[in-house]
Amino acid sequence: MYTVRAASRRVKLSSISGRSITAASKTKTVTNEESFSKVVPYLAVAGLTLGLSSTQLIERDEKTECSIFGGSNVEDAIKETEDKFSTYWPRNIMILFGPPGAGKGTHGPKIENMLGIPQLSTGDMLRAAVSAQTEVGKKAQAVMKAGGLVSDEIVVGIIRDRITEEDCKFGFILDGFPRTLVQAKALDAMLADEGACVTKVIELQVPDQVLEERICGRWIHKKSGRSYHIKFAPPKSMKLNADGQLAVESMVDDETGEELMQRADDTSSALVKRLSGYHLETVPILSHYQGHGVVKEVNANQGMDSVWSEVLGSLSRK
Ligand code: AP5
Repeated sequence: MYTVRAASRRVKLSSISGRSITAASKTKTVTNEESFSKVVPYLAVAGLTLGLSSTQLIERDEKTECSIFGGSNVEDAIKETEDKFSTYWPRNIMILFGPPGAGKGTHGPKIENMLGIPQLSTGDMLRAAVSAQTEVGKKAQAVMKAGGLVSDEIVVGIIRDRITEEDCKFGFILDGFPRTLVQAKALDAMLADEGACVTKVIELQVPDQVLEERICGRWIHKKSGRSYHIKFAPPKSMKLNADGQLAVESMVDDETGEELMQRADDTSSALVKRLSGYHLETVPILSHYQGHGVVKEVNANQGMDSVWSEVLGSLSRK
């Protein structure tokens, strides 16, 4: 049976194309040149969605030794289809919006996995710059630790460069950007250059009172960005000492066993400043986009699974 492969999953072609093709009839169908040309776009879209190259997508049928999916002509056809999508179709440009601790970093990776477009977190990019002590990192370090905003010029420059990269050709999910009206207008202007615009703003709504517990209980795995919480999403290894206090050495990443850390700005005092910046400078962006009919509200003050269901609903066109 033909399948498309991803790192950890195998997905039937029929389930991706949305057609109910059985394994037996599929072999016949794909040997027919006309039908095959109809299947190519589905294959391409499937590959794009799963982040697969055309060669990963193509697999020989072991029983029939059918090779219609093999060979450079097919790869060329798929490449051509990919090029058409990236040249003529609009990009899917989303903003994950919400206060510190709303769940942007929790749900962003799931949207990324589902849609196959990257999550671009300006916070992660800036923290990487701080760790590497680049010029940008040196400028951003103190202001970030105190919970202030890095200059518009720096973050707009970072995003301007990042969205031209290959993995953004079908779209991207912005997390933590734009954070001021100046940034929102700069984003609109750079998208307008290609005739594009923001297609969705997912607003995660959470009252300020619940954010301190979320922020102060968060631990992260630095390399992957995986986020944990001592109460809401503890790592499997988490233990308490005999006195009931958190055993810090037990805070390790579920997947790698590497130690977890807390962010320098995840303190109650920095949160006060971050929240004030959010209400004063970031919230006005919502009215800027509301007129475009792209803002979807999600109640993020509920269990993570329920939040995810609402996020899925907000992504759907139905
Ligand atoms: P950034 O990294 O963007 O931080 P933030 O916006 O403050 O957002 P957080 O990452 O803190 O929260 P989140 O919504 O991702 O929450 P998470 O999902 O992890 O920015 C950091 C700094 O960089 C800024 O302060 C600024 O200095 C600078 N910066 C970045 N972008 C900038 C820009 N554009 N302009 C200027 N400066 C910029 O969830 C939090 C915790 O809660 C986790 O532990 C999670 O497990 C838990 N949790 C999540 N959902 C739930 C739930 N439903 N129930 C219970 N717990 C939950």
